[in-house]
Amino acid sequence: MTRAHHSAAPADETSYDHLRLRQWLAGQARGDGMSRRRMLSLLAAGTAALALRTTVRAAAATAAGIVKPLPDEWFTVRGTNAETKWEALRGTGHLTPSDRFFVRNHTSTPVIDPGPWRLKVWGSGLRGGPGIDQAVEFGLDDLRALPRVTHTAFVECAGNGRSFYTSQQGQSVTGTAWTLGAVGMARWRGVRLADVLRLAGIRRHAVDVMPRGLDDEYVTGGVNLGHVRRPLPVAKALDDVILAYEMNGDPLPPDHGHPVRVLVPSWVGISSVKWVGDIEVAAQPLYSPWNTDFYRLFGPGFPEGGSTPLTRQTIKSAFELTEGAVFAAGVHHVLHGRSWSGAGAIRKVEVSTDGGATWRRARLRDTPHRDAWVRWSIPWQPRTEGPATLLARATDTAGRTQPDEATFNTQGYFFDAVVRHPVLVQQPTHRAATAT
Ligand code: MTE
Repeated sequence: MTRAHHSAAPADETSYDHLRLRQWLAGQARGDGMSRRRMLSLLAAGTAALALRTTVRAAAATAAGIVKPLPDEWFTVRGTNAETKWEALRGTGHLTPSDRFFVRNHTSTPVIDPGPWRLKVWGSGLRGGPGIDQAVEFGLDDLRALPRVTHTAFVECAGNGRSFYTSQQGQSVTGTAWTLGAVGMARWRGVRLADVLRLAGIRRHAVDVMPRGLDDEYVTGGVNLGHVRRPLPVAKALDDVILAYEMNGDPLPPDHGHPVRVLVPSWVGISSVKWVGDIEVAAQPLYSPWNTDFYRLFGPGFPEGGSTPLTRQTIKSAFELTEGAVFAAGVHHVLHGRSWSGAGAIRKVEVSTDGGATWRRARLRDTPHRDAWVRWSIPWQPRTEGPATLLARATDTAGRTQPDEATFNTQGYFFDAVVRHPVLVQQPTHRAATAT
């Protein structure tokens, strides 16, 4: 079996999105798509695997519908979701340990028997016929037999940092009130989605690829929106997207998509569909609530139907510290944190320990890579007792720097502004943190 690698410039994504936005606003759901010259070489023979029923059991060990334990020192539970506490990452290494990785579930974690599980690839963008009954099926062993790829990448919810729209900018927004812990980084292993699409017989007219999860249908406000699903443009699907079956060297844990999840490096977390059961490949644009009603920017300054669907993540920084952490005055401390961006590697991180009056450059402790965060540190010897505000501001290789204020949007996505982290400086005689 040959392996094909295809790259797509971000410009393709941008023009795709502009085209989609015009079609969406015009109420059109059909089209011939864009030129797909890169796909010509992909048109190879498809294979079919045995069809078996997939077994999905409702699992949900915890009240939140999440299987893994959620100890207070690691997580803040928010409805069906669990946010990682940043202080729990102190000393954990470059990757987020899977047991501390945040969980974002629309409903609850299903437990799927990997034996009978099949991935069905179907739709009008394939040569075999448009119906799901004509799907090409892949078992886990079929996927494992394909060339493997590993990639270190963060997964981050588009709403990460949402609560700061309210606490820092006085704006009210809807959605889960995350602080900065709806992000984690892991080493993912799996197969290229491009290889699977090629084996399934993708045609040059294919435009969109829509993975769908096997978790329960999502009901909100009395409306059943169906299974979680979100289309990807073919250009991205054929570029760097992985169907992952391992996370940090182990089979995917139930909460993170076992047996297989989609992993879309640097894009908003909703793109990385967990517990994937089928993938529609269409010769016309596809829509779901997750690229129309949600995961666009709405509000003043945006078109009536919202912005283009959100793709690349924004840029952020976080201290590996609890809010209100206590520091001993006059003592040498080392502050630690991490910065990441969806647009490129991190180029520099600046830190202010006086509420933004002066800035110093932090030392980067990892070689910066795209799709990955970088750990950093900076020494601090606080002299004045009382409350202090720590700030961290990152710049990436695409030239983006965290602004002082994030652009308001009603659903509170893409909070990229510098976050004000309150701490307290006390006399060393008090019970205060010593150097870390
Ligand atoms: N996939 C399915 N099937 N169901 C979901 O609820 N949540 C999405 C995405 N994939 C979701 C899903 C969202 S919004 C995010 S941010 C990521 O999964 C979170 O991945 P994690 O729970 O592994 O951290």
